[in-house]
Amino acid sequence: MSKTLTIKNLHAAIDGKEILRGVDLTIRQGEVHALMGPNGSGKSTLSYALAGHPRYEVTEGSAEIDGRDLLALEADERAKAGLFLAFQYPTSIPGVSVANFLRHAVTNVRNPDRKEGEDLVPMREFRKELREQMDELGVDQEFARRYLNEGFSGGEKKRAEILQMAMLRPSFAILDETDSGLDIDAVRIVSEGVNRVAARHGTGVLVITHYERILTYIKPQFVHILFGGRIVEDGGPELVKQLESQGYDWIREKYPDAARDEDDLEAAQKPASLQAAR
Ligand SMILES: Nc1ncnc2c1ncn2[C@@H]1O[C@H](COP(=O)(O)OP(=O)(O)O)[C@@H](O)[C@H]1O
Ligand SMILES: [Mg+2]
Repeated sequence: MSKTLTIKNLHAAIDGKEILRGVDLTIRQGEVHALMGPNGSGKSTLSYALAGHPRYEVTEGSAEIDGRDLLALEADERAKAGLFLAFQYPTSIPGVSVANFLRHAVTNVRNPDRKEGEDLVPMREFRKELREQMDELGVDQEFARRYLNEGFSGGEKKRAEILQMAMLRPSFAILDETDSGLDIDAVRIVSEGVNRVAARHGTGVLVITHYERILTYIKPQFVHILFGGRIVEDGGPELVKQLESQGYDWIREKYPDAARDEDDLEAAQKPASLQAAR
């Protein structure tokens, strides 16, 4: 049966600073949605809040899969509930190979009641499946033996994320700027991977991006614009064209309150990015 991810009036804060100010979004399995918005509008905050990152505090609102409260679950339980997130900046795990990481992740997601220390998915089947998925994504078999994301190029990191998605077969996948830093061939390969997994497992997909390019490969039926920490416009692919040709000025004029919040977020962003650069 097809599941629904329902986000209502979601507010989230980082270090006490409110970033998301009431996000409403409903995604059904099998649907492809795009979330667009200027830098600093809160796109990554939405994905982290949904994934259960400890720094992102949800202060109001709800997120459910078929009535099951995601926000009450630990991050790993959210994955077991069928939510997958491809991060904008995947972290590396030195000492843990791609294969080993995936074998644990796959075991935990497929056997949600497994206790620590119980058997992992059988090696032989796992290897076979991993090999098939790596072939489909056009990654070298040697990839599986490398430490996760350690020294990976931008393109390899993104492929590692999609490989995870392919192995975990989530009900819902949120892809945060999976296109950033990729050349056009890599965007196409990664997108085809997403489309294949989504078609096979009926995954509901949320593509977060601020470029039109990836959306020519992963075609959204629904497009949302996040601005000043809330979704101000919902529409179809025509919204992508409109942003591409007109930028965000018309959004700014149409939603003056959100524009004030967006300016506030932008002002807050400058010191943060300076800190990050240090
Ligand atoms: N770890 C963090 N610490 C402090 N502020 C943050 C952090 N992450 C994001 N922010 C702030 O939250 C706002 C939204 O950021 P983000 O969700 O990353 O936007 P987007 O992904 O749309 O570019 C920005 O003002 C940013 O400075
Ligand atoms: Mg972001």
